[in-house]
Amino acid sequence: MTFTPELLTTIRDRFHHADECPIQGPRAFFENAGGSLTLKACVERTAELMAFPDNQGRSNVASQHLMEIVAQGRADMKLLLGASSGEVFIGETGTELLGRLIRNAIFVGSGSVVIGSHLEHPATYSACRRWSKVADMTYKQVGFDTDTTVVSIDQYRPVLTPDLAVATIIHASPVTGMHVDVKAIASEIRSVAPGCFIIVDGIQHAAHGRVDIDDYGIDGYVVSGYKLFSRHNFGVAWVSDRLATAPHDQLDGAPANVWELGTRDTSAYAAFSEVVRYLEWLGGQVGDAKDSRTLIEAAAVAIGEQPLRPGPTWCSCLSACWAQSWSPVPRAW
Ligand SMILES: Cc1ncc(COP(=O)(O)O)c(C=O)c1O
Repeated sequence: MTFTPELLTTIRDRFHHADECPIQGPRAFFENAGGSLTLKACVERTAELMAFPDNQGRSNVASQHLMEIVAQGRADMKLLLGASSGEVFIGETGTELLGRLIRNAIFVGSGSVVIGSHLEHPATYSACRRWSKVADMTYKQVGFDTDTTVVSIDQYRPVLTPDLAVATIIHASPVTGMHVDVKAIASEIRSVAPGCFIIVDGIQHAAHGRVDIDDYGIDGYVVSGYKLFSRHNFGVAWVSDRLATAPHDQLDGAPANVWELGTRDTSAYAAFSEVVRYLEWLGGQVGDAKDSRTLIEAAAVAIGEQPLRPGPTWCSCLSACWAQSWSPVPRAW
């Protein structure tokens, strides 16, 4: 179905600056690679929580309230990412989180080879280059298909060997937005190197397509808040149970699966929850799904069905960015 003009107006009204640049005036925002429009609810919630003087981990009511928000944020992250196991946590940026996951995987992985592709963002290959060298491992980057602009098992297959310690996969091209079949590549890697740690950069994909971590057979997945209708200054990482409990930077005495370091920004968790509430709301506008995950999936399908609309409504973020790339059939855009 195509969103009715009334629904589209309501959607646009939930975002800041849908029709204008805050500095220059009228414009259609079509920054598909750099960021996304920001939900008003994320900004409101951020301002509200940043004003709290209370810290987490105390027994007073406000402190308990903040910890409940963090717990809810974590549950919402796993819901949106389709992850029923593992751990989620926030970090400074997507770049910082990818670097951290890759570094840790390299040092705990058994094997001597790290692989990735030339489709990847510097966030991934910079960390792979640096830490494979420090760990005295070999790093290989495979090419990609320049016609489809994606990487596939065809490119990965020739470098798959049993001594793979870490493999990285990007979920969508940062240049064209075309989507990579993560599940197929991960399963091919596992068939040759079952113990390999597989880390996925979902930063360009997550705002444009549904994520089903339970289905992928991977160990790490990273998204950025500001590319997913939220705000700058945080990214979200998911780690599998085996990566979560592998040795990593921690305060002495912390539980083995904890990756957060120091005091968390409650407002980032709350902002992420607002994104999930928005997608549930959107799912409810287009169907009769009842549970949260099904509502999010319904939103994904509906967004994928939106046509491009030349003219003033051409890019309302959800009518173009999501619609163009969330389709099951890859489309150039
Ligand atoms: C595919 C991809 N990975 C990683 C990043 C880095 O994300 P962040 O800006 O959150 O560090 C970007 C940013 O453009 C990206 O497009």
